[in-house]
Amino acid sequence: MKELHELKKITILSGAGLSQESGIKTFRDANGLWENHPIEEVASPGGYQKNPELVQNFYNLRRRQLKEVQANAAHLAIADLEKLEQKDVLIITQNVDDLHERAGSKNIIHMHGELRKIRNTKTNEIKYWEEDILEKDYLSWRPDIVWFGEEIKGAQRIYQHLVDTELFIAIGTSSQVYPAAQFFQIVKENHGLCVELNLEPTQMSSYYDLSIQGKASEVVPSFLKKLYADEL
Ligand code: APR
Repeated sequence: MKELHELKKITILSGAGLSQESGIKTFRDANGLWENHPIEEVASPGGYQKNPELVQNFYNLRRRQLKEVQANAAHLAIADLEKLEQKDVLIITQNVDDLHERAGSKNIIHMHGELRKIRNTKTNEIKYWEEDILEKDYLSWRPDIVWFGEEIKGAQRIYQHLVDTELFIAIGTSSQVYPAAQFFQIVKENHGLCVELNLEPTQMSSYYDLSIQGKASEVVPSFLKKLYADEL
């Protein structure tokens, strides 16, 4: 087994908990997004067909919020890791915010799409869009977000990267949504090291090689510092 500081191919899986301290609500915590909005109503193709106004407003509000929030210490620590030339880091994020990008990260797959992009419902054209989708466009432009029942983005690239990942770090995810919740198992099958950094234990914690609880803005920088110094 390589020394920790020698692990080169690193995959990070981030979830809503990573952005929570930036002021973006998670989904399943108390007062989370799904507490106020049944998932199928605002995050499914059926919900969009049934009530496009409700769905578009749900995402308009979240898109507007992007202008008020900023990356936190965890996003910045991850961006610093990626800058180390002896590392090959891929960020697979379940988050639809752009805080990884704003922290300086480059190698990112938004497997659930992005709030800053919209997609034409007829032509499938995708474009960056930072404003509200207006009523006149409710049916012709939709958020380029992966809704429940839709295919994740970047699946092939994700699986290609997982099979030879040496270190997998899951950050701020409840590991309740698939396939992301099982990505770590592919790494384990290929003898990679799996670490979970989350505010509280999850249903997958006991399957990880290491599971550390704490707030992302604290536990991510401190974990990475230990990694560089081989102090785990
Ligand atoms: N630091 C670290 N972890 C945190 C913090 C924090 N400050 N705050 C909350 N958490 C943890 C919670 O304990 C929880 O386990 O983050 C996790 C957030 O879980 P979810 O709200 O379920 O979010 P996520 O895992 O990203 O959901 C996955 O589900 O609904 C879909 O598409 C949606 O991408 C989302 C997917």
